Amino acid sequence: MDSRDFDELEGRAREKLAPGAFAFAAGGADDEITLEDNIAAWQRLRLRPRMLRDVTAIDTSVSVLGARIAAPLMVAPTGRHRLFHPEGERATARGAAAAGVPYVMATASTVTIEDAAAERRAAPQWFQLYLSPDRAVTEGLVDRAAAAGFAAVVLTVDQPVYGASPRAARAPLSAAPHIRAVNLPGQPVAAHGYGAAHSGSVTHPATFDDLAWLVRRSPVPVLVKGILRADDALRCVELGARGILVSNHGGRHLDATVASADALPDIATAVGAKAEVFVDGGIRRGTDIVKALALGARAVLIGRPAVWGLALGGADGVRDVFEHLRGELTRTMALCGVAKLTEVTRDLVA
Ligand SMILES: Cc1cc2nc3c(=O)[nH]c(=O)nc-3n(C[C@H](O)[C@H](O)[C@H](O)COP(=O)(O)O)c2cc1C
Repeated sequence: MDSRDFDELEGRAREKLAPGAFAFAAGGADDEITLEDNIAAWQRLRLRPRMLRDVTAIDTSVSVLGARIAAPLMVAPTGRHRLFHPEGERATARGAAAAGVPYVMATASTVTIEDAAAERRAAPQWFQLYLSPDRAVTEGLVDRAAAAGFAAVVLTVDQPVYGASPRAARAPLSAAPHIRAVNLPGQPVAAHGYGAAHSGSVTHPATFDDLAWLVRRSPVPVLVKGILRADDALRCVELGARGILVSNHGGRHLDATVASADALPDIATAVGAKAEVFVDGGIRRGTDIVKALALGARAVLIGRPAVWGLALGGADGVRDVFEHLRGELTRTMALCGVAKLTEVTRDLVA
């Protein structure tokens, strides 16, 4: 992978992937307003850099749930990686490990929990959870992930029903029986498609009661992904969530939501030190990362660019995406006059 520009990376992935696989990853709900605004909202923010600081040694490391990681970057949970590369999530996990960043494995993964765990190195892995209507299935998944060494469970709560993606509906996924959500036996990947045909179909919506149950039941800390309001964030924290992932699911389900960059400040202020706050959606630059941290995120998650890296270069492609972002972050920190991430404070954003 020689290009490091994510727009060009997406263009090359579009050429390489089957139209259905590309549309599945690239698309957003309805008019894709949120998909585009996620990127634009970071771009709208302006930095107020500090001068005359000693930036000869830049340290990008940070701790997440007590684990020190190389950079405030994580692989966002995205499903069905064997649509993008024959090695699937195994390659993604290996690439993340090589870059020293955590990998958040999706419930809808196409390799086993244990196979992804085998790729873990120093950086932790977390497991993204969708609830099953059958509590025993959910318990089985959580226990398996914990036994395999996943350090946290991330409950996704922003998809009580599927959104509708016209783009994905125009280019349906072709049947590929060997690409299945293997950790959910009996559920072929096609049953979890994304597009008009599936819009409105009920998944397994989580409620606050489910969250309270999960916090009690899970052997590892629970975080909540898909929060866009401070009141929701606070209630999750009161129920025992250790982290809040500010996210609109990359604009894939409800269109016309607030952009994640715009939702972050209120949530970070409300949560304060009660839990760790993370954000994803449209983060494409080192400057975006500094903006996110200045507005209160501890680390950011990267969705589609990781998928393009996977499609183009397998594990190496994923690693390159994160090393590239870390390089941009290092340069941005130096230019902003900050040598370590604790110096990235709110006043850096105008
Ligand atoms: C192909 C694809 C599949 C996804 N699958 C899931 C999923 O299974 N669970 C989940 O919580 N989020 C899922 N997401 C959302 C991502 O975790 C993340 O919120 C979003 O991609 C971040 O925005 P970005 O792609 O602009 O970086 C998916 C996103 C994409 C692009």
